[in-house]
Amino acid sequence: MYFLLIFLPFLLSLYEATSDNGSSSQQLNFAVSKTVRSNAMRYALLVGVFTVSAFATVSISTQRSTYICPVTGYGSKFVPISQFLGLLLDAGIIISLSTVAQDGFESSRPKLLLGRLAFISAGALSMQAGLFILRNPEHMIWSFHLDSRIICDLLFATVFGSSFLASVVYLMSELRPSIPVTVATCVSIYTYYFSTHTTESWPSPSRSTVVLSSIAFLSMAGIVRLWREASRSQRSMSLNGTCSRLLMILFVFMSVLFLAKKSSLILHTSKLSRHPIDYLMSNAQHTSDQWRKQAATSHSLEDAVYQYQSRYGVPPPPNFDKWYEYATARGSLIIDDFEQINNDLLPFWAIEPAKIREMTAHMLERTWTDAGGLRISNGSSRLTPHVVGTHRWSLDGTSSIINKFAQWLPDMDIAMNINDECRVAVPWKAMEDLKKRGRLARRQLNETKHLQPFSTHAHQLWPDTYMQAEPPYSPQTISEYFAEASIASSFTKYGVIGCPPKSPSLKISWWNKGFFCADCVSPHALGPFLSNWTLSGSLCHQPDLENLHGFHLSPSSFKPTTSLFPIFSQSKMPGFSDIVFPSPWNYVDKVTFDPSKGVAFSEKEKTVFWRGGTSEGYAGADNWEGMQRQRFVHLANYAQGSTRLDLILPTDAQGTDYSYRSIPLSSVLSATNIDVSFVGEPVRCYDKECAAQAREFYFNTSTVDFQEHWKYKYLFDFDGAGFSGRFMPFLESGSLVFRAASFRQWFEERLTAWKDYVPVDTRLHDVWSLLAYFGGLGKGGEYAHEKEAGKIAEAGKDWASKVLRKEDMEIYMFRLLLEWGG
Ligand SMILES: *[C@@H]1O[C@H](CO)[C@@H](O)[C@H](O)[C@H]1NC(C)=O
Ligand SMILES: *[C@@H]1O[C@H](CO)[C@@H](O)[C@H](O)[C@H]1NC(C)=O
Ligand SMILES: *[C@@H]1O[C@H](CO)[C@@H](O)[C@H](O)[C@H]1NC(C)=O
Ligand SMILES: *[C@@H]1O[C@H](CO)[C@@H](O)[C@H](O)[C@H]1NC(C)=O
Ligand SMILES: *[C@@H]1O[C@H](CO)[C@@H](O)[C@H](O)[C@H]1NC(C)=O
Repeated sequence: MYFLLIFLPFLLSLYEATSDNGSSSQQLNFAVSKTVRSNAMRYALLVGVFTVSAFATVSISTQRSTYICPVTGYGSKFVPISQFLGLLLDAGIIISLSTVAQDGFESSRPKLLLGRLAFISAGALSMQAGLFILRNPEHMIWSFHLDSRIICDLLFATVFGSSFLASVVYLMSELRPSIPVTVATCVSIYTYYFSTHTTESWPSPSRSTVVLSSIAFLSMAGIVRLWREASRSQRSMSLNGTCSRLLMILFVFMSVLFLAKKSSLILHTSKLSRHPIDYLMSNAQHTSDQWRKQAATSHSLEDAVYQYQSRYGVPPPPNFDKWYEYATARGSLIIDDFEQINNDLLPFWAIEPAKIREMTAHMLERTWTDAGGLRISNGSSRLTPHVVGTHRWSLDGTSSIINKFAQWLPDMDIAMNINDECRVAVPWKAMEDLKKRGRLARRQLNETKHLQPFSTHAHQLWPDTYMQAEPPYSPQTISEYFAEASIASSFTKYGVIGCPPKSPSLKISWWNKGFFCADCVSPHALGPFLSNWTLSGSLCHQPDLENLHGFHLSPSSFKPTTSLFPIFSQSKMPGFSDIVFPSPWNYVDKVTFDPSKGVAFSEKEKTVFWRGGTSEGYAGADNWEGMQRQRFVHLANYAQGSTRLDLILPTDAQGTDYSYRSIPLSSVLSATNIDVSFVGEPVRCYDKECAAQAREFYFNTSTVDFQEHWKYKYLFDFDGAGFSGRFMPFLESGSLVFRAASFRQWFEERLTAWKDYVPVDTRLHDVWSLLAYFGGLGKGGEYAHEKEAGKIAEAGKDWASKVLRKEDMEIYMFRLLLEWGG
């Protein structure tokens, strides 16, 4: 339905061939109208062939994104009809324009008509927009969301769009209307191809695409040739022979280039000697082994100190020996590698300790900033008196972690983020500067080789009115450094400001949410599968994510800052600068895996099981259609068995050769059950969006005990408003965990995608290919990889029991605070 406009040239040429017995001949006083007429018929036929094959090519080779196209409600019926009406309207407008344009462009009539049309359409559009805003005032914030990229795009569209329009109208005064329209269509198709099919990753090129597109382009060449003949016989058709010859050469050249590119892709990717997942799994094993080896090389305190200094360029903080003792006594497998702590704290080295204290106090004095305070002093930690009741458990949990080792910590106050969403988005340039100065400060410290002991009476220096029961300020006092940015798009204003200047996300706005962005995926993918977990989190090369996650579309409670404030958060999006710490959610057992309810992998049901709420973001302006949870539930529950998938399957019995094959989705669905639904009722949405979601989705109201999950083989894990609290119990349960998280937690470097869990792309385009690989095809589960599934599930369970224990959270937190204080 997307490409209905491709039919425009055909409609026009048909109109010309039937109704118009040569308006040109009439006008040009041309005698032999018979040739013109038969020419017009042949021309219409060719345009017809071109149109149909171009339409087929584009429809087959275009991959839709998983952005939801609702199947219920008013839009689902209205959109196709209006697209069709739009096509007819376009044809009508062009025909009447061309009739008027025949008067010659010198006369004012065409310009007048064009001007009127522009005014009428602009008026109609603004009236519609005005009515919409009047009826849905809460949509204002999304509707008038302008940023530099959008303004650039608008300017571009204005300049090029209007000059394009003017030139087409001019051409129509000289030529049949279908000719400029055909050329425009053809050029757009080429541009579309070259912009979307430059990478080898995905979608895999299929033979039929090549055949169809070659037909499309050959017929286009035919059209140009006919056109040239016509212009030779009718010299006054102004586009002279040289010009059309040039155009034809251009088209032929582009076709050859395109076909060559396509065929080389086919030759390259048609045969694979290994399934990409097999490759990724063995790679992951290797990476993990390597990491593990270097994460604990030291066998004594001296070793550890040496390792610390050579890795991080500074001597370890005071009481490092206590930490070492604490960690080794609890059997920590990781002693030396805490790269994340190092990265999180590096920019703070550029800031004076007194300044950091001031910033912490600034937040704690203003409860509006949603920061909760923890005071560590004289060997124990306690909460500041003004933490909101609903978030107390979280700070209490953190406090109980800290109290395990608080006696060795210096006195300090820290500000904890009580929201799930991360907060600190520092622009790239400022961040680079801070990091540079941080490195410099560390080098200087390394050179003095002389450690300051912890200052013991630090609190006398602290501004601390926030510790008083009755503070001398009101809870409404707002901070000029923080913004209230909840329930609005956050991507351009905060999400990507940490990206280096040339990043695609800073330059491109992915307008067409329905299209899959292959170039956004290819840097971190191997075929349809995710190959680099670290890179896949980066927003900088993925402009399309703006519309594919609740946090980017509309976070529920978001008070960000663009200055480097020291805020401790439980998770963060890559690109943010919060200091990550182990979540008390898992520490205080909010959700747990109860081993007595565990089931062996081979006895689990072959089912994808997921239950959850619509809590990822706050839905307004229909943006729930892009949220990940919603997209997943939609994908799973509206799966059409007849959809064709390009799957990588073995071509021989030994499995030494693989190639892409087209398989109906029903084959995957009969091998693996899907049991996925929302629970309760729609939450975090305006009335209109709640109603729309209640129509679109089934909300299962029967409660499910969390321990039910372990009966199923395949567990999908998604972000909520922040990180997913279920991931750790899922991992411990020995089911195969499919992880589609965008938020990163404290343990990222300890886990390895494809060894401990199966990574899933945020776009979810890989879901069926993943299930086809693990679950197989058809009732019998042909080509299933049970062994591999069991291997990952087992490895995840085993490794989680070694490095994600509560002790490991304590050890991480201990080291983090020691370095923070030191
Ligand atoms: C065809 O052309 C003739 C002569 O120019 C004109 O009289 C006649 O009305 C035209 N027919 C149509 C259907 O436009
Ligand atoms: C820090 O000092 C140690 C010991 O003097 C030295 O071995 C190391 O190379 C220095 N590191 C950096 C990054 O300067
Ligand atoms: C710190 O704690 C110790 C023992 O726990 C106590 O004797 C001492 O008075 C405390 N100091 C302060 C300043 O509270
Ligand atoms: C994954 O991406 C990161 C970040 O860009 C890069 O440093 C790393 O080398 C990549 N890993 C692999 C295996 O390509
Ligand atoms: C709702 O969930 C329950 C518990 O998982 C399940 O037994 C039931 O089949 C679900 N209902 C529907 C209609 O899917």
